[in-house]
Amino acid sequence: MEKTETRVIETTETGEPDVVCSDLVRIFTAQGVEVQALQGLNLRLDRGELVALIGASGSGKSTLLGILSGLDVPTAGVARVAGHDLLALGRRERVAFRRRSVGFVWQQTGRNLLPYLTAAENVAAALAVAGARGDREARVREVLEVLDVAGVADRRPAQMSGGQQQRVAIAVAIANEPRVLLADEPTGELDEATSASVLEAMRSVNERLGVTTLIVTHDPTVSEHVARTVQIRDGRTSTEVLRSTRTDEHGAEQAVAEEFAVLDRVGRLQLPHDFVGALGLHDRVRLSLEPNHVAVRPGQEQRPTAAPPIPTAVPHPEPSTVQDAAPSAAPAAGTPAAPPRGRHAAPTQEDAS
Ligand SMILES: Nc1ncnc2c1ncn2[C@@H]1O[C@H](COP(=O)(O)OP(=O)(O)OP(=O)(O)O)[C@@H](O)[C@H]1O
Ligand SMILES: [Mg+2]
Repeated sequence: MEKTETRVIETTETGEPDVVCSDLVRIFTAQGVEVQALQGLNLRLDRGELVALIGASGSGKSTLLGILSGLDVPTAGVARVAGHDLLALGRRERVAFRRRSVGFVWQQTGRNLLPYLTAAENVAAALAVAGARGDREARVREVLEVLDVAGVADRRPAQMSGGQQQRVAIAVAIANEPRVLLADEPTGELDEATSASVLEAMRSVNERLGVTTLIVTHDPTVSEHVARTVQIRDGRTSTEVLRSTRTDEHGAEQAVAEEFAVLDRVGRLQLPHDFVGALGLHDRVRLSLEPNHVAVRPGQEQRPTAAPPIPTAVPHPEPSTVQDAAPSAAPAAGTPAAPPRGRHAAPTQEDAS
């Protein structure tokens, strides 16, 4: 009944993905203290994909986007975007890469647009800087229409709402038809309704133009707008949620979200905090290979606390198992209380709304 599925990040399939990060490391040194912002991160986006990247503050999201946009250089590992090796780019190639291969939208609405230019002039300026050929005026009109902001073409940023400014910023970012669109918290300064409409705009751009899109956010509700959400924890991709629709036995469409742990090339994965907490796992754990899953048990014997009376007829239950990326539909009979959330277990049925 259940599917045994594990995402392994591979980089060798035919047709290069638009974004490939493999064992990516970025170490910052500030006042003699080293911060490992990215600790062997793996990520792959196929051409035309739309992916949300979520994670707690400080988990490395902006560091990753800085690298993918060519602003920053990683300490080690592999980072390839639109066929460019970001560790090997020379200075001029890097400038060309930033102008032609990637588009970028920042969180701060004021950082995306030149304040003294109108929306149309901002888009035209981006085309001019990139040396775009063809009818630039037509292209300006076209992208403003795609983003539904043709009505504010002659206004300067201060004369637009925050949502309009971010839509124009997306228009600027995609004007030159980059292969990859990167957005770092593009809705961070917007209210909920405006955020949802800007995210919908990004989804529509992705669908209509096929630009590979990575949206960074710490808003977990973003995953409702995208088919794939990658979570980053402590500088590594830890889990992914894939959404799809299925038709149930009554013919009704249902949205289904499945969460997976990310297993890297050398077999590492991160156990969710709540799993670790539920069993008090620390330092060493015991692994055993079961017929269709891997069991993770506390490494130390669990000492009984207040020694409650044990019913003589009932045998001791086996130690609880935490299943990793090989999910099973239901815990084995006799397994003690499951962790609070059914991660990596059966698909979550959700409203199709
Ligand atoms: N230039 C820098 N110098 C030193 N440390 C840095 C630098 N940039 C980021 N860091 C550190 O790297 C880690 C990751 O930071 P990053 O900005 O990537 O996090 P983030 O996930 O984008 O967080 P937020 O959600 O708050 O934006 C943090 O510990 C941060 O303090
Ligand atoms: Mg950030």
